Amino acid sequence: MDPQPVNDFLRRLESTVGAANVLTDDGDLAPYLVDARRRYKGSALCVVRPASTQEVSRILALCHEAGVAVVPQGGNTGMCGGATPHADHTSIVLALGRMNRVREIDPLNGTISVDAGCTLAAVRAAAAAAGQLFPMSLGSEGSCQIGGNIATNAGGTAVLRYGPMRDLVLGIEAVMPDGRIVNAMKALRKDNTGYALKHLFIGSEGTLGVITGAVLKLFASTAADAVALVGLGDIDAALSLLHHMQARAGGRLTNFEVISGGEYELVMKLPKGLHDPLTARHPWVAIVELTDSDPEAALDDELATIVHEAMENGTVQDAVLANSKAQAELIWAIRHSVTEANINAGLSFSHDTSVPVSQVPAFVRDVERRITERFPAALPVFVGHVGDGNIHAVVVVPRDSAEAQDVEATAAAINAVVDEVAISLGGSISAEHGIGRSNRARLRAYLDPADLALMRDIKGLFDPKGLMNPGVLF
Ligand code: FAD
Ligand code: MLT
Ligand code: ZN
Repeated sequence: MDPQPVNDFLRRLESTVGAANVLTDDGDLAPYLVDARRRYKGSALCVVRPASTQEVSRILALCHEAGVAVVPQGGNTGMCGGATPHADHTSIVLALGRMNRVREIDPLNGTISVDAGCTLAAVRAAAAAAGQLFPMSLGSEGSCQIGGNIATNAGGTAVLRYGPMRDLVLGIEAVMPDGRIVNAMKALRKDNTGYALKHLFIGSEGTLGVITGAVLKLFASTAADAVALVGLGDIDAALSLLHHMQARAGGRLTNFEVISGGEYELVMKLPKGLHDPLTARHPWVAIVELTDSDPEAALDDELATIVHEAMENGTVQDAVLANSKAQAELIWAIRHSVTEANINAGLSFSHDTSVPVSQVPAFVRDVERRITERFPAALPVFVGHVGDGNIHAVVVVPRDSAEAQDVEATAAAINAVVDEVAISLGGSISAEHGIGRSNRARLRAYLDPADLALMRDIKGLFDPKGLMNPGVLF
């Protein structure tokens, strides 16, 4: 756009949301232009911060008329660069943070209706204040937003019991690229009235429209819980323990996370100096948690018995049962520090594979062997939500190594190895993080061409001018 039309366009945005909410100053823009992994740096005509669905609608109608691309941004914690504009200075960033109202809680219906810009932590807190639970939990929950969680179909640590975001959303409100509002804010558990449009927006990564509100499921709050950190000899032992715990604790098993010994070591090396609750290091550890809505449930005893049984039969080498809230928090702090630890350790290439749960050991062994053979300087480590088959293979490369000199080429070569193993085992290249900008080529290689063509057709129907988050997914 020429300078004069740009100025006119900015004035019209200002008259929609107020001049204070159209940011154009370089310093103000900076945090919105870099992704969480610091792999992309973009530029934008401005950052617009609407306060209501009506304002989002007017902004999108203006962009549609002017042919300006829109990059929706929530908490900017996404792992694939999907919320970062390109460096060509042609788009706006639409930041949802001011839309942070809890609209309604209906405890008898077990639902909460919220603006898309509410942080996940704020929604969890609002549910807790009403004596209920919103179960999604991510390391980024203080900053990521419900709109971003829906747009990425986020997963996290409680998927084993409650499912990913797709299972937690009952209704959605969204704005189409031309400004039309889709109001599907249904608080219904059953609704068979044609295509479920909400499911198209879930996981759409900002490519079909802007999510502005959602109705989410609530659950009975967990009045009792018990957490343990256990040391394991290998990844097969993790699967044996998972199987044993599912048989013994059934639906009370809420979290089952694993960390490889190499990844654990990286967490322990963090400058913040987390204390290791275990007395020795192990090839793998698992974090296991039981929860129950009954405050009288003797979960500590139950967990101690189950873990003791697993020690007796040789599955578990060592275990610490959290005996205080502080110790439980320390165990979870270890788990939630892996992303920070990987960034601290060097250049890290992280993957978001899912395979059938039974194939997790084969995936780990194959990736470890092939990466070590091909990239001798690299350290393959693993962390993940093994209870639902989602294991993150992270390949850490020293910043001064040959591999670190051409990041894109190294990423492509490492991804190819990991994806080949995943696909050979019937897996997926993205379980919970999405495709964004980073994984477009991998998506093309992974998807059946007919499926990809159908997805492009859907995109064309929603967004014929191609203005919503260009360069993401396709
Ligand atoms: P953003 O990063 O702002 O955006 C992500 C994508 O969604 C972009 O494509 C953006 O355009 C789109 N988008 C955002 N808001 C909207 C909207 N309102 N309407 C339409 N499109 C929108 N993810 C997991 O799944 N599981 C984990 O365990 C997990 N742990 C993490 C731990 C850490 C420490 C960090 C930093 C990240 C972690 N993540 C995890 C990744 C990330 O937090 C999730 O992908 C999260 O759902 C992104 O939300 P966000 O609001 O930050 O979205
Ligand atoms: C996690 O499980 O910790 C997240 O998905 C983040 C990551 O893979 O780095
Ligand atoms: Zn994860």
